[in-house]
Amino acid sequence: MANIIIVGTQWGDEGKGKIVDLLTEDSDLIIRFQGGNNAGHTLMVGDKKVILHLIPSGILHPGKLCIIGSGLVIDPEILIGEIDSLKHKGYKVSPENVAISERAHIIMPYHKIIDHARDSTQGIGTTGRGIGPAYEDKARRIGIRMIDLIHEEIFRKKLDIVFEEKQEYVTKILKLKPLEKEGFVEKFVKMGRKLKPYVTNTTVIIESAIRDGKHLLLEGAQGTNLDLDYGTYPYVTSSNTVAGQSCVGAGIGPTKITRVIGICKAYTTRVGGGPFPTELNNTTGERLRAFGGEYGATTGRPRRCGWLDLVALRHSVRLSGISHLAITKLDVLMGFKKIKVATAYKAGKTSIEHMPADLDVFKKLTPVYDELPGWEEDISSLRRHEDLPRNCKAYISYIEDKLQVKAAIISVGPKREETIVRTKLF
Ligand code: GDP
Ligand code: IMO
Ligand code: MG
Repeated sequence: MANIIIVGTQWGDEGKGKIVDLLTEDSDLIIRFQGGNNAGHTLMVGDKKVILHLIPSGILHPGKLCIIGSGLVIDPEILIGEIDSLKHKGYKVSPENVAISERAHIIMPYHKIIDHARDSTQGIGTTGRGIGPAYEDKARRIGIRMIDLIHEEIFRKKLDIVFEEKQEYVTKILKLKPLEKEGFVEKFVKMGRKLKPYVTNTTVIIESAIRDGKHLLLEGAQGTNLDLDYGTYPYVTSSNTVAGQSCVGAGIGPTKITRVIGICKAYTTRVGGGPFPTELNNTTGERLRAFGGEYGATTGRPRRCGWLDLVALRHSVRLSGISHLAITKLDVLMGFKKIKVATAYKAGKTSIEHMPADLDVFKKLTPVYDELPGWEEDISSLRRHEDLPRNCKAYISYIEDKLQVKAAIISVGPKREETIVRTKLF
């Protein structure tokens, strides 16, 4: 038995989807445990590209069970669209290989309206998918869950209770036009009927799989520095993204976890607002964006790009107990004469070794860089670690030494096969 958690170690978009797809071959159950369709996980199989927002990145492999856990907030329209689009592409999606937790919360139309309206003044740069407002209602105990959506009477009753309050908030506080209830209620009832066969107590399925010695892969979304508690608050998402959340969001005990894999891009990107100490607002940053294709998989926004940040990574290793790294997009660094890595930050004469909790500190600091020699070779066709250019191997060893974590996987391209597996994880 091996039960593995996959988490992002930076600000999201590290290539989690690719690594989950890769590791699915050796696993039986693939479980998404938090977030919603703010996530965009890209998989490249051959020349076919699939972007998943809610369905676990194991779905392209036949014979695996994909679970959407209790910790998610689900936009049913997006989920149905994703199911239909996968079917259209020839992949099997049915209650036999996809299960949705009855406890997962639903993103309602008013959540998206509120998200948009608030973000125009708050400036977090959210994905506008209603994620924050839906998690807010969950914590306030007025959320509507999957179990409610599939029972028409309960759904209507629960919605009646919250609707007046939402109407008042939208019209009086946000000063927007009134919400129209009738149109969306019927649509949601229909979507509930469509999703009903998938909705179940997923924790029982997971427990039985663990008893049978099956392998679990727990797929995180976003990254540690977007974590609600440990990220660059308030420029974060509204769920916990650290490894510990996988137990809550999937519904399994921490004793069942065997490894935690931190996905680490060979440089850093961020979408939306908030601190980003190693950001490069120059031609180097533009080059990383162009070579790395750094445009959001969910919103299409250009990603902010910068050098690798060991302060942010140490934070992740600590908070998620990362046992192995998967270093992705190493091919993108080809052709840089020098590669910089931030080892600490400096504010005046003070050296800062750990991620500051105070956002104001970020305004005053500058990164302290180590400089490593780059390499000229295209590494995307290489499949063995020993074949990598000397400086490329040195870059990997440098990261491993600084973080005291071994890189089990090196990704040298977006495709499944463009990968060097150094340690078998299952
Ligand atoms: P996720 O949200 O963490 O799953 O990452 P995204 O899918 O949003 O962004 C990662 C992007 O990089 C996707 O377009 C992937 O296809 C691509 N990708 C993943 N690994 C590699 C790699 O090693 N090299 C290159 N060039 N692209 C990669
Ligand atoms: P994956 O899983 C990168 C960012 C948004 C915004 C902040 C809050 O693909 O790595 P939200 O809509 O969640 O309230 O937005 O979080 N964000 C992501 N950035 N990758 C993601 O997911 C993200 N999900 C949310 O850009 O800054
Ligand atoms: Mg992404």
